[in-house]
Order: sequence, then structure tokens, then C-alpha cells
Amino acid sequence: MIDAQNLTKKFDEVTAVEGLTFHIDEGEVFGFLGPNGAGKTTTVRMLCCLISKTGGEARIADYDVGNTADSLKIRKMIGLVPDNVGLYDKLSAYENLDFYGKLYECTEKLRKENIEHFLKMLGLWEKKDVAAGTLSKGMKQKLAIARALIHEPKVLFMDEPTANLDPEASKTVRDFILELKKENRTILLNTHNLDEAQRICDRIGILKTRLLTIGTPQQLKESLGGVKTEIQLVQVNDAIVSAVKKVTTHKVEISDNKLIIDVGNIDTAIPTIIEAIVSAGGRIQSVTELNPTLEDVYLKTVK
Ligand SMILES: Nc1ncnc2c1ncn2[C@@H]1O[C@H](COP(=O)(O)OP(=O)(O)OP(=O)(O)O)[C@@H](O)[C@H]1O
Ligand SMILES: [Mg+2]
Repeated sequence: MIDAQNLTKKFDEVTAVEGLTFHIDEGEVFGFLGPNGAGKTTTVRMLCCLISKTGGEARIADYDVGNTADSLKIRKMIGLVPDNVGLYDKLSAYENLDFYGKLYECTEKLRKENIEHFLKMLGLWEKKDVAAGTLSKGMKQKLAIARALIHEPKVLFMDEPTANLDPEASKTVRDFILELKKENRTILLNTHNLDEAQRICDRIGILKTRLLTIGTPQQLKESLGGVKTEIQLVQVNDAIVSAVKKVTTHKVEISDNKLIIDVGNIDTAIPTIIEAIVSAGGRIQSVTELNPTLEDVYLKTVK
């Protein structure tokens, strides 16, 4: 549904995005992670035809990003939740949505139905007649989400949609994104929230001007070398360590009174190691599988 080949954006001397190549399938939730200034917003703005690219190619469905005739068709089929909400402060929540619905040439019936549906779903229905400028930051953010959906777009770009939301509202939005996925909509999400990315994204790309890595959350975690096992002992001594090293060729790290062994296969490798520890007089307090987290992957990748 979304294809980028060597997509590049330079602002004079600043290269914001360089040589980005990726593909997002229809119905996929794809997340971009990356530090401040990594080019996430710039990428979304290029794909939404809001700024021109300076190199490479990008397509949304059958349309070329950068082709003037196609850009109107692209805008019609996409929705954008921008990083700054950009609402009309003096218009009420309802009027904002109605106005954008008209711009997208939605029928009056569709506007009415969708405004009510999305405002209710996002918990804003009782604020429908309140001027957008007087809503709280999180309410404005939710209103911007409703606005992006008013014309029922096939592709949705969300630039940090939960940045200003309280935990309950963030969950509402995450559940909402998963509902949209069920309707086979394609979603590109920029976020700094690693937990959010892990929960809702089918695949994640880590961006820092260039695309550093891409994969499912599981693939990214496995790329760090997979699972380790931590064995907490009352006391570690040389006899225990040498007994363990006799039965395993895997790397053994010692930290306080813990042995961290580079092996995740608790079923087969670990019983032998435990037997060796016990025979050497070791007293085991716990055995824990250590999974790399997305945070480990992120920090290692962007460093
Ligand atoms: N209009 C512009 N003119 C000049 N430079 C720009 C412009 N927009 C973005 N940049 C630069 O491009 C780079 C990428 O910015 P961008 O906003 O895409 O990053 P981001 O990944 O969205 O960051 P954040 O996580 O802070 O939102 C930055 O160095 C930024 O200063
Ligand atoms: Mg940004």
C-alpha cells in the first residue's frame, strides 16, 4: 500500500531523511521509532504530499507521491493526525469536524454519522459544542484523530497520536487503531512510546535520518541475540563457575551472586547447568528467562 524507494529530503544543508526504502502492506500497522530530529515527521509529511521530496520515489496504492495529478488522489485516500493538532480554535469540536468533512466532500449524512460516532468513541461527545481552542491538550489531540477519520480514509498517518493523552485515553486510541486495522486500513504511526509500538505495530522501523533496522517486534528482539537465563544464587564461588563452564559452552557472565548465561533453552540446557551448580554446593534462589526488550533494541540501534 505504501512504497518508498530511496526517499530523501534535504532542507538546504540539513539532510532530514536519506535513502529510505520500505514497503507497508495493506492492513498493516507500521511504526517508526527514532530520536528527536530523526526524520519521522518529515517522512510522513512527504508521503502526505505536504512537502516535496528531494530524491527517490514513493507510492501510495497506485499513485505517485510528487506527481501533481496524483497528489489530490492521495490526499483523498489518506488521513493525517499531525504532530501539531491544527484545529480552528473558534469553531466548536463539531464544527471543526463538519468543516473538514465538507472539504473532503463527505455527504451530510456521512458527516453526521461519523462525527457522532468518532466523538462518542473518543469520549468527546459532551464537548461537541465547545470551542476547540478551549479544549485541553489531550481533548484537542483526540479531536484531531476524529478529524483524520471523518472521510473514512484507507491509509492513516498518525504522528505521535498519544503524546498528550492520559493512560486511559492512550488505551482508547490504541484499541481504536486496532479496530481500524480490523477494517483493513493501513496505518503508519510515529511514536516515542516503545510499549505502544510493541503492542500495536505489526512491524517497526527504527529511523535516524536513514532507516537503521526494520522488522516485527519479535524479529528486532531476536536480532539482539535472543533470550538469556539468569540464575540467582545465595553465593557464587569459583567452584560453581568452573562446574557450570564444564557443562556449557555458552557465555557465562557473573554479576553479584547471579550467573547470566547466554542460553534461552530452559527445557534442555538449563537442567544440566542447575545440576552442576547443585553438585558444586551452590544454592539456587531463582531461575529467570531474560528477554531483550524493545528498549534494548532501540537504544543499541540508535547509539
Ligand atoms: N521546514 C524545515 N526546515 C528546515 N529543517 C527542517 C524542517 N523540518 C524539519 N527539519 C529538520 O529535519 C530534521 C528531521 O526533523 P523531523 O521533524 O522530521 O524529526 P522527527 O523525527 O519527527 O523528530 P521528533 O521526534 O522531535 O518529532 C531535523 O533536523 C529538523 O530540524
Ligand atoms: Mg516529529
